[in-house]
Amino acid sequence: MPQQDHKSVRTAGSASSRPGRELLSRGRIARRVAELGDQIAARYDRGELTVLVVLSGAVIFAADLVRRLTVPVRLEFADLHSYPGCSTRSQGIQAGARLPQSLGGRDVLVVDDILDSGQTLGWLLEQVGRQGPRSLSACVLLRKDRADLRRRVEADWVGFDIEDLFVVGYGLDYDNLYRNLGGVHVLEPGQREGAP
Ligand code: IMP
Ligand code: MG
Repeated sequence: MPQQDHKSVRTAGSASSRPGRELLSRGRIARRVAELGDQIAARYDRGELTVLVVLSGAVIFAADLVRRLTVPVRLEFADLHSYPGCSTRSQGIQAGARLPQSLGGRDVLVVDDILDSGQTLGWLLEQVGRQGPRSLSACVLLRKDRADLRRRVEADWVGFDIEDLFVVGYGLDYDNLYRNLGGVHVLEPGQREGAP
């Protein structure tokens, strides 16, 4: 069913127009996030869980996901920047990344918005692993089909596999815009003013 808030979404346009076609509706995401939450809750059914949220793209996903969990959850945040400004391919982890240093001995679940090249998740799992967590796993909302590379890292839970498109909404941004869209939308090349 078409949703009111997507009425003005167009399929093409200038950089100033709204993003293009909806890839995943708000309702579809909600159903999948609930499923993921229930699977993760079944895996961590005792003790407590530390959820490490990758800023800023994963905050909306993580907010919905953690509310499906039944064990006590500690929320921690990893402040990384791999897509500065108008980039649409990862530029590697930028200097100044900030991580909590209290993850030793904990059951840690890393939550990120999207697995693209895998640089972000690979780096983060390595850093957290050095702190000696009791267990370490990862959940991403989206995973891009990148036929051009072999990732050296995988996520334990994946919401949706998508084509190699640049997407925004439900937390994902372009130049820090569009995170508030309820669904996930494709940002066409013509709408990415300033992209390298
Ligand atoms: P990777 O390091 O190449 O796997 O990139 C992962 C990070 O880049 C994610 O945490 C996102 O913040 C960002 N990213 C990758 N693809 C997209 C996209 O299509 N839209 C918005 N952000 C993206
Ligand atoms: Mg990110």
